[in-house]
Amino acid sequence: MPSRMLTVEGRRDVHEKVSVWKRAGLRVGFVPTMGALHEGHLELVRQALRENDRVVASIFVNPLQFGPNEDFTRYPRTLDVDSRMLDSVGCHAVYLPQVEEMYPSGADTHVVQEVAPKYLCGEFRPGHFTGVLTVVAKLIAQVAPHVLYLGRKDFQQVVAITRMVRHLDLDLELEVRACATVREPDGLALSSRNRYLTPEERTVAPTIKRALDAVVAKFAAGEHRVDVLEAHGRLVLDAASAFRIQYLQVVDSETCTPRVLGNAIALRTDTVAVAAYLGSTRLIDNVPLTGS
Ligand code: PAJ
Repeated sequence: MPSRMLTVEGRRDVHEKVSVWKRAGLRVGFVPTMGALHEGHLELVRQALRENDRVVASIFVNPLQFGPNEDFTRYPRTLDVDSRMLDSVGCHAVYLPQVEEMYPSGADTHVVQEVAPKYLCGEFRPGHFTGVLTVVAKLIAQVAPHVLYLGRKDFQQVVAITRMVRHLDLDLELEVRACATVREPDGLALSSRNRYLTPEERTVAPTIKRALDAVVAKFAAGEHRVDVLEAHGRLVLDAASAFRIQYLQVVDSETCTPRVLGNAIALRTDTVAVAAYLGSTRLIDNVPLTGS
């Protein structure tokens, strides 16, 4: 079938296209990605298509959000397959900025946020959220959509971006929709990085979700002490003898602040989040304490 999807590489071209749509009264949804697309990304596009007249996706492996020893160079780049996948679900346009388009030399401004980036992944990936927020702020300015679609899989990213766009902060005047995490049948959250896993690692990887579910079940059974809940989750991961845990924490879902800093009693509105290495692959996941 011939491609119906528009491919744009320049920021002015994407802005112009979206302006034309908006002038025609159409509602525009936007799904930013780093490519290596999977069903999790496609679900965001499908939800955006249900709720908008036009949908733009972007693919940009953002150098600013990778640390010096992280996987920027080996991050999977599968542009042809990605384009076909986006086209096949009916995405209207894909924006593919080059690094020089996004960060011309001399760029001198970054978006630094205080609260959410301090915790969880922020403790282990200094500068990561500054990189994410800076690129997302630029993408929002370039595309100028009505609605931004993000996956709950990256819970801390949703919190940071939601706080950035609100009136209190940068007043970016757009709606943020957080979509449910798409999982493999065995519970493993889909991720572009799952393709780094060896077959043996892939078989133990679902332990991450089992550990989160164990915390949720214990909470539901009436255990609300944060230290006991977290220890219970870590025990499940440790039993697999395969993970190097960076964190497994119960945090406030609005700010990512670890609950242990407060009264150490978990609330129904909290989230339990985990990051752990399995071999050389860093996996993250999270579940609200009410489960799902
Ligand atoms: P990337 O990892 O490509 O993810 C793009 C979007 O897909 C994010 O909103 C992410 O949360 C969502 N996503 C990933 N896996 C998912 C899953 N299993 N279920 C549901 N949604 C999922 O996140 C980024 O890129 C970047 O940080 C970006 C926001 C594009 C800025 O560079």
